[in-house]
Amino acid sequence: MTRYAHITGWGTHVPEKVLSNDDLSQIVDTNDEWIQSRTGIRQRHIASDGESTASMGALAALRALDVAGIPPSEVELIIVATSSPEHIFPSTASLIQDHIGATKAGAFDLSAACSGFIFAVNMAAQAIRTGSINTAIVIGSETLSRLVNWQDRGTCILFGDGAGAFVLQASDQPGGVLSAVMRSDGSGGELLTIPAGGSKLPASEETIAQGLHYIQMNGREVFRFATRVMAQATEEVLEQAGLSLAETQWVIPHQANQRIIETAARRLKYPLEQVVINLDRYGNTSTASIPLATVEAVEDGRLKPGDQVVFVGFGAGLTWGAMAVEWTGPLPKAEKPSLWPYRFRNLYLLYTRLRSGALRILRFLEGIIWGRQR
Ligand SMILES: CC(C)(COP(=O)(O)OP(=O)(O)OC[C@H]1O[C@@H](n2cnc3c(N)ncnc32)[C@H](O)[C@@H]1OP(=O)(O)O)[C@@H](O)C(=O)NCCC(=O)NCCS
Repeated sequence: MTRYAHITGWGTHVPEKVLSNDDLSQIVDTNDEWIQSRTGIRQRHIASDGESTASMGALAALRALDVAGIPPSEVELIIVATSSPEHIFPSTASLIQDHIGATKAGAFDLSAACSGFIFAVNMAAQAIRTGSINTAIVIGSETLSRLVNWQDRGTCILFGDGAGAFVLQASDQPGGVLSAVMRSDGSGGELLTIPAGGSKLPASEETIAQGLHYIQMNGREVFRFATRVMAQATEEVLEQAGLSLAETQWVIPHQANQRIIETAARRLKYPLEQVVINLDRYGNTSTASIPLATVEAVEDGRLKPGDQVVFVGFGAGLTWGAMAVEWTGPLPKAEKPSLWPYRFRNLYLLYTRLRSGALRILRFLEGIIWGRQR
């Protein structure tokens, strides 16, 4: 039996706090007209002190599970694509596994910058297709506001915070993820980077004084690279899927810059009305941008079951990729109401926190007993 990986659930979470271009002009020497004309961005959402990559990702994941109509205990794999993980380790995915009570899931982070969501969906789809697992959650979550230099007007205007998630499930019905392209070119690594904080340049007074823990970018070069690879990757992934561009209903690109998207659409001779764009309200949310745009298109009725859609993205690394998908919607068995609706999420999250606390106490007690037995 051929196995297919379908996207059967989706969810997002964005922080309430909004930072407009006018707000930004109070922080750095910029203005609304410049930002809108160069990027298309009008505002972005910024995480509050209590919010983080894991907390936003967990809420997006719970929402996605609710749409799919399956409980967290059925999830076997969690991949979090992120450029702003909670820590170097443990993985943000492990923390989300605990937050949502996905007791059977293996969890890991995937680092491919803004291309990460496409790469992660592809990895989850492959695991499903081979029969290794039946159900996965892929999350793109970012708190980039904590990594931008709020004195650098070349970068701080671009980025925003938020999270999006897809549930992927196995089915013998054709459809779902049809093909994927993943590419990297590390020779362009320095064009978009956070130089310090890893093993090459661990945190020191010097690295902090030089601002090396913030995002640094060569905007023009990234722009040039992005416009080239978006069209290329889209054509390649469609050829792999045996589809023509005319057969697709939607292209959902990484939301970095309106001008990059328009240039790519022009190169492809693809109507801009069929390109989903919402970066005006969110800015560049890196790995969260494709799910944020996708969920918006599903919820406002544009993206429907049976539609052929291309996701395409690019980012630091350099990395870029595309994916052709036949959009599915929840599998039929999910039509019965889910056991723990999303509206009870606070109660549910309290339960998972208690469960996590109980596990910590148990580990502590086991440690004492083990210590006595030694
Ligand atoms: C960052 C970006 C918007 C800059 O636009 P640009 O047209 O390339 O602008 P430049 O960097 O050439 O700067 C042009 C001028 O505007 C100024 N400028 C830069 N940022 C500014 C801002 N926020 N407000 C006002 N002026 C600004 C520059 O100082 C420069 O002034 P100068 O000519 O006096 O030196 C654009 O390069 C871009 O979007 N690149 C892609 C970035 C991206 O998508 N990164 C994420 C990838 S996942």
